[in-house]
Amino acid sequence: MASENAAKIDPAPGPGLRIPVHLGVIMDGNGRWAKAKGKRRTEGHVQGVQSLRNVVEYCIKFGVSYLTVFSFSSENWARPADEVSFIFGLLRRFVVSDLQRLIRNNVRIKIIGARKGLEPSLIRLIDEVEAKTANNTGLVLVVAFNYGARAEITDAVRSLVADAVAGKIDPASIDEETISRALYTREIPDPDIIIRTSGEQRLSNFLLWQSAYSELVFVPENWPDFDETSFVRVLETYAMRDRRYGGLGAGGS
Ligand code: IPE
Ligand code: IPE
Ligand code: MG
Repeated sequence: MASENAAKIDPAPGPGLRIPVHLGVIMDGNGRWAKAKGKRRTEGHVQGVQSLRNVVEYCIKFGVSYLTVFSFSSENWARPADEVSFIFGLLRRFVVSDLQRLIRNNVRIKIIGARKGLEPSLIRLIDEVEAKTANNTGLVLVVAFNYGARAEITDAVRSLVADAVAGKIDPASIDEETISRALYTREIPDPDIIIRTSGEQRLSNFLLWQSAYSELVFVPENWPDFDETSFVRVLETYAMRDRRYGGLGAGGS
């Protein structure tokens, strides 16, 4: 586990592993991790942030180019207000405490999700970290915060329809590329793998459009327990998958 002042991480991909360009993670099970240890749910979220730090380091070490993490969904507002505000506080603290180390490690940060409904000071912080890391050329860390795929697609439809009504685009010219470019994830390739921890096997409104051909990997451990061994196991699982995209794939039969 790296301290705040850890040295730069050198990329060192393991032999025989297939490295995804883009890894998506549904970081689930913080509450159950805490409950199993007789702790408060909030303690699980704190440990979850440590797991996130670790996974950022594994991605750098193994040469993953994009890491998208689901940290708060549009539907998570349904939780008790004190849990919601704790999670928001954690995000702020993570950004403030880790920014310098992320910059040192050449990480570019992008935050996707609805800005509407967020406090102006939080929006300023988000803009600031994106701006301060905009010129970094290493891992792109995409934090899905206040994110819901259906809301994202709805926003995209609204803006495309507005452009069509204003005569800026011809509806007949709208294709899949147009829609991809209207999403928060424009300029980010689709995820090769989506991991969900905690044994749940659903997407819960994460990257629905972008995951059309992602390899889904469900692992039993809760997010705070997800370590380098878990990470390598996911890469091994991915290496065994045959991505066919509707065609015949590597085997050809
Ligand atoms: C994931 O852990 C973190 C968020 C959704 C913010 P949970 O808080 O969902 O943990 P469980 O699923 O209740 O165990
Ligand atoms: C998905 O987890 C959202 C995040 C990990 C941020 P949830 O715990 O909210 O999902 P459900 O409610 O079990 O589907
Ligand atoms: Mg959950």
